[in-house]
Amino acid sequence: MLSQQELKQQAADAALEFVEQAAGPDVIIGVGTGSTADLFIDGLARFKGRIGGTVASSERSAARLAGHGLKVLDLNDVSSMPIYVDGADEIDANLHMIKGGGGALTREKIVASVAERFICIADESKLVQTLGKFPLPLEVIPMARESVARALVALGGQPKLRDGFVTDNGNIILDVSGLSISDAPAFEARVNNLPGVVTCGLFALAGADVALLATQSGIRRLDRRS
Ligand code: A5P
Repeated sequence: MLSQQELKQQAADAALEFVEQAAGPDVIIGVGTGSTADLFIDGLARFKGRIGGTVASSERSAARLAGHGLKVLDLNDVSSMPIYVDGADEIDANLHMIKGGGGALTREKIVASVAERFICIADESKLVQTLGKFPLPLEVIPMARESVARALVALGGQPKLRDGFVTDNGNIILDVSGLSISDAPAFEARVNNLPGVVTCGLFALAGADVALLATQSGIRRLDRRS
């Protein structure tokens, strides 16, 4: 029986095969944030000198990449990336996700938007039928904390301030529990439109293109239906 850690490692290793295929001196790889992304970063170290560099979705991942001697570029200096690799807190069969358990959702969404393909790496426990059991993180401008919280209560959620946490962009996180999200793209658009919300942790309008889900019997690959 493989541990959760071993399953995460398996998923990270599977994503490194995509790097192997894409690698080249000018190729930039987008890198996510979290414990599974950390394992991917550690594996990426062996590509030093074989890729042009990386773009990180958080200060935390940037420091880990730099620690391995990998070049970390500013997204403003990068116009294309073949892949962005990141974990998820929940993913469904449509490859819609909830992300942001680590609080890096906004930068994750920005970096992912520049990549041609989003490769989601996770153990199979992250696969759900309906998104929302994992509290939905929202990055919020501090002065809008209460107005956004009230709006989320009106939408049926229970928002809770992530205590003592400040995002890399200087904002707060509200974690919203009690949601059962049947139409994730519509809910994402609605919440993103609330004044003061920087972005919500739903990745549904642009979900993953490929999910590499580690199971006890190997990698289960899901591709986005076009
Ligand atoms: C970070 O903000 C998140 O979006 C992570 O990608 C997500 O929480 C998955 O993290 P783990 O790989 O640690 O489960």
